[in-house]
Amino acid sequence: GLTTSLASAATTITDKHLSCDPSGTLPCPPLSTAPIVDFTPERSVKRVRQPVHRLSKSYQEKYKLAVSRMKALPASHPLSFTAQAAIHQAYCDGHYQYDATKLQDGDGAAQPFDVHASWIFAPWHRMYIYFYERALAELVGDETFALPYWGWDAPEGMVIPPLFRDASANNSLYNPHRNQANLDKLVDLDYLSNRRPAPVNFDGPKDEKYMEAVNSNLCTVYDQQIRSGKGALNFLGGLPDTNRSASSGTLESMAHITMHVWTGKAPNSTEDKSTCALGRDGNYSCMNDMGFLGSAGRDPLFYSHHANVDRLWHIWSTTLRGGNGFNDTAWRHTSFVFFDGVRNPRRVRIKFRDVLDTRKLGYTYADVSEKIPLPWLKCNL
Ligand code: C2O
Repeated sequence: GLTTSLASAATTITDKHLSCDPSGTLPCPPLSTAPIVDFTPERSVKRVRQPVHRLSKSYQEKYKLAVSRMKALPASHPLSFTAQAAIHQAYCDGHYQYDATKLQDGDGAAQPFDVHASWIFAPWHRMYIYFYERALAELVGDETFALPYWGWDAPEGMVIPPLFRDASANNSLYNPHRNQANLDKLVDLDYLSNRRPAPVNFDGPKDEKYMEAVNSNLCTVYDQQIRSGKGALNFLGGLPDTNRSASSGTLESMAHITMHVWTGKAPNSTEDKSTCALGRDGNYSCMNDMGFLGSAGRDPLFYSHHANVDRLWHIWSTTLRGGNGFNDTAWRHTSFVFFDGVRNPRRVRIKFRDVLDTRKLGYTYADVSEKIPLPWLKCNL
C-alpha cells in the first residue's frame, strides 16, 4: 500500500502517477512532457513576507495586480490561477488516484493520494506556495515581491483581511464564496471546539469579552506551537495513514483547519448550491471555497493563509528550536514536481530536504528577521 511505499522508498510523484478524476469540479492540472530538472537553491534571500495587516498601499496594489495577471492567464497555462487551484485539488480529497502499479510495492489498485493528514503536509504546502510566489513576482516584474501572509496569530490580524473583502470589480483578491457571517468578526482559532464564545466584531469595543477572545486565540497558537507541538511527530505529523486524521500534526490540525472552516463553512445548509462544493461522494457539501480542501485553492485568501501556516513552521524550526524535521531518509528524499516560471514553464523536482531552510528558497518573514516579539508567547495556560 501507499503507506509502506512512502515509508520505505524515496517517492517521486509526477503527473504521470496521477489519473485525473473526470467527475472533479475543476479541470485537471495541465500535463506536460517538458523535461524535469532538479531544484537548485536560490543564492540569496530576496523576498521578505509581510503580514497583510501591515502592507503598504502600494504593496497591496502590487499583490492585487499580480493575482489579476495570474487570473488572466489561460486555464491551460500551468501557472494560471485556475491551474494552481486544480493542483491543490489534485492532491487532496481523493479527487486524484495514485496509480499503485507505479509504486514499488504496489498492489495494483488505485489509491487515493493526499498531501494532508500526515508529515507530507508542511513541506508540500511550502513547495506549492513557493512556486506560486515566484510566479506572482514574475508577473509583476519584481523579484523581491513576496507572498503576504494572513497574520491571524497576532491581534491586529485576527479578522479576514479587509484587502480580501473589498468587493470592487478590480479586486482580484475578493471571493464571494466565503462565510458571510464571519467576515467582520474577530476570528475564533478554536472554532471547531464545542465551547464557542459569542462572536465579537473585530472593530467593536475592545472590552473584556473582546480581550478574552483575543487571549484565547493566543493560547490556541501557544498550544499548537509549544505545549502540544513538542517534537517533529507532534508538530509536523506522522506517516500517511488510511485513518485520515490520525497522523496530522498540530500545525495542520489546529488553527490551520479551523481557519479553513471559519472562512469557508456556510452558517446553514439552506444556501444556494452554487456556493457549495461537490464532494468525492458525489454530494454537495454546503461549504464555501475555503471550507473544503478540494476547492480551497480557488480562494486567493488560501495562499496568504498558507503563508502564515508556513511562517509558523519556520518559527517552530528556528526561534522555538524545534529543529529540521525528520532524519528519516524516506521523508527527506520525498519529492514532488512543480511547474516553475510563467514565461517559460519548466518542471522542477524538489525534495523535502530542499525546503527545510527557507533561505535556500530565497525568502524569510519580516517579523522573524526584525525580531518582533511573538504575541502568543505571553499566553498563560
Ligand atoms: Cu492543502 Cu490548508 O490545505
